[in-house]
Amino acid sequence: MINTMELIFDEEMLNAAINALKNEFFLKGESVKKFEEDFKNYIGTKHALALNSGTTALHLSLLAFGIGKNNYVITTPATFIATANAITYTGAYPLFVDITLNDYNINPVKIEEAIKQHKDKVKAIMPVHLYGYPSKMDEINELASEHDLCVIEDSCQSHGGSYKGKKLGSIGDTGTFSFYPSKNMTVAGDGGMLTTNSDEVADHVSQLRDCGRSKTKAGIHDYIGYTARLNTVNAAIGRVQLKHLDKWVQQRKKTVKRYHEELDDIEGLVLPPKDNNDCQSAWHLFVVRVKDRMKLKEFLFKEGIRTSIHYDLPVHLHPPYLKMDYKETMFPNAEIWAKEVLTIPLHSKLTEENITFITQKIKKFFKT
Ligand SMILES: Cc1ncc(COP(=O)(O)O)c(C=O)c1O
Repeated sequence: MINTMELIFDEEMLNAAINALKNEFFLKGESVKKFEEDFKNYIGTKHALALNSGTTALHLSLLAFGIGKNNYVITTPATFIATANAITYTGAYPLFVDITLNDYNINPVKIEEAIKQHKDKVKAIMPVHLYGYPSKMDEINELASEHDLCVIEDSCQSHGGSYKGKKLGSIGDTGTFSFYPSKNMTVAGDGGMLTTNSDEVADHVSQLRDCGRSKTKAGIHDYIGYTARLNTVNAAIGRVQLKHLDKWVQQRKKTVKRYHEELDDIEGLVLPPKDNNDCQSAWHLFVVRVKDRMKLKEFLFKEGIRTSIHYDLPVHLHPPYLKMDYKETMFPNAEIWAKEVLTIPLHSKLTEENITFITQKIKKFFKT
């Protein structure tokens, strides 16, 4: 069976884990500091803070900007539910706006309309680089500076992608990464990272992740913080994974190039947007759009190819968000997206033969 994604965990990662477990503190060990150093250098920001998940990175970003009750945060309904959940945790309202169907990312025209409509309440924009493909960051940053809003990049799917030469996660006020095992890189468990150039945000988040503990007054807690640190053993594994990230992204790009070459002209099959000078995707997922996706899914499964769906529903149609007065037909593009998307295999273990096999089977499906 060809899987949609594959984990890479090798001897070097195992040894790094054993070494950390034997020689370092389980929490706040040397590997955590080193992982943060490596990660901030890779992303190109002044700070990187290791956390226990990508959701936490989003949540603590919002708290560091003072966002909470009576505030609105603009985001996309075409994402994993955690994006909106992080907003909801703070007491703020996730104000969804629709996407553009050519890249499945938030539409800046719709952002502007939403800001005009809810001027006093909107405090931040949270774009998602869905599947690793960059959101329109110039337009988003321009709107943010015009209306004095924070920008929190949800870069949880975009390790290694870039926009106009800048790494995703270094363009907004904060970048947020997830190391969930299926991502382009992992820490072999849950984990996350917050990137920022702001000393203030970095200081605040480093306290919030550590129960709000004061850095200067022993035994005092300045905030109601969280237990949200990354374990040392996971950081040690993350450091090794990060060394391979660029190579893995390049391997993904090669597969994507072949998918585009082989599948470009098939009627009824919509491929994801290609890389260009400005937008270099991290190619976390290769997601196609098909009217009757379940037929293609079942056909490929019978041929030995697994596919997935990212995601079955746009966020506004999940039960907790329906309770916030969101309804069907509110975001037509996001609703088409959720009905038609299908994720086909993309990982660095795919062979040339695998790719040929997959593309032949997809072509066969559309001929029959
Ligand atoms: C777009 C997006 N945002 C946020 C998250 C949350 O990350 P985590 O699972 O590490 O909390 C994910 C993880 O899948 C994601 O894909």
